[in-house]
Amino acid sequence: MNLTLNINGTDHSVEFSDGELLLDVLRRLGLTSVREGCGVGACGSCTVLIDGHSVSSCLTLASRCENTEIQTSEGLGSSDLVVRAFIDAGALQCGYCIPGFVMMTTELLAENHHPDKQAISDHLEGNICRCGTYPEIMNAVLAAISERDK
Ligand code: FES
Ligand code: FES
Repeated sequence: MNLTLNINGTDHSVEFSDGELLLDVLRRLGLTSVREGCGVGACGSCTVLIDGHSVSSCLTLASRCENTEIQTSEGLGSSDLVVRAFIDAGALQCGYCIPGFVMMTTELLAENHHPDKQAISDHLEGNICRCGTYPEIMNAVLAAISERDK
């Protein structure tokens, strides 16, 4: 089958098999920031935004994503406020989980202009960092919020 996916603002014509997951299609297209951790919707490492809302791409059929706008961290770029805040805060060790956290933070800041620590924790609670980088991730999100206020 063939479908057109809009990813990071660009249309891609994609061959895919029936039942193929969005995670696998994105990685096949070279968008390797989208990572498989648990594969069952429990870790957040495969998070992308679809029409601005976070989804687990490991649970999403690619065929359901036509006529949507898919966003991955590749689309944010290195000058993005959230990306910069994570880099500056040193919010990574192995880095495997970080694109998922970045996408969740991007969603949070679009929905809530001034989330407090509790709101940040609540929003990110479905994302797991096996390296335990949670304090640095919290610092990065707080820094992104204060940077946006300048
Ligand atoms: S790989 Fe999708 S939530 Fe863990
Ligand atoms: S930085 Fe290694 S899993 Fe999060």
